[in-house]
Amino acid sequence: MSAKIIDGTLIAQQIMEELKPRIARLLEKGIVPGLSVIIMGEDPASLSYVKSKGKACERLGMRSETIMLSETTSQADLMTVISNLNANPKVHGILVQLPLPKHINEDAVLEVINPEKDVDGFSPINMGRLLAGGECFKPCTPNGVMELMARYDIDPAGKHAVIIGRSNIVGKPMAALLIQKKKGADATVTICHSRTKKMSAITKKADILISAIGNPGFVKADMVKKGAVVIDVGINRVEDKAAEKGYRLVGDVDFDAVKEVASAITPVPGGVGKTTIAMLMLNTVQAAENIPKL
Ligand code: GUN
Repeated sequence: MSAKIIDGTLIAQQIMEELKPRIARLLEKGIVPGLSVIIMGEDPASLSYVKSKGKACERLGMRSETIMLSETTSQADLMTVISNLNANPKVHGILVQLPLPKHINEDAVLEVINPEKDVDGFSPINMGRLLAGGECFKPCTPNGVMELMARYDIDPAGKHAVIIGRSNIVGKPMAALLIQKKKGADATVTICHSRTKKMSAITKKADILISAIGNPGFVKADMVKKGAVVIDVGINRVEDKAAEKGYRLVGDVDFDAVKEVASAITPVPGGVGKTTIAMLMLNTVQAAENIPKL
């Protein structure tokens, strides 16, 4: 039997709908939740993500601002832009689109974002709080994966979750969320990465398999245990001359083959991507609600 398709678009819509009354309460108090996104350079994929973030804010009646900096902007100038956003009371969320150009020290940039406005959850304070199991902004993509599972009644408790990819954006925080000692988590977690030996022997043991490496079609059907839940975080552009844009989006998972083995699977597009944006809106609303005077 073919796997259940996890509808990320639908779940994202639900999350956004649930935010509306919270936003309305903020507006009544004269607070317009606001997100500022900084993007350096003109990488098409990054520009497309940033546009989606702006559109989502617009749909919810939130304030959004995109600060486009040239690829050659200096570290000092970027830091100044962030410091100004830290000091601006109209800005509740700050997001610096990654990756940054090579001459920028990414760690130093993430350090300078006020943790109370760090809606990406990438600052060391939020990352540390996440690992310690404390209150924090949770990184949007892995938190979206948790939300997808929760809303599809997929309980990770006691399950073996295998994550492919050890990035700071997805792999590591995904593991931190799954091992939390709490409802909706409590998984046993293994992380595989580029130096892992005999990866398919490990992935085949996964009850929940999450791929976040950005390698189109990497996860083949023979790497997946029958009945596993497969979450595809990859969003890869592959050339497609027949497509209007000259490319199409595919995940890390060989979807057509894996869906015949898995019990549930996220498609690309229409899976994790949409939920990421919804979780970013959630974090921004939360940041606005956290203002001390409320
Ligand atoms: N680049 C890819 N994913 C993300 C994300 O979730 N946040 C930021 N800031 N950059 C990204």
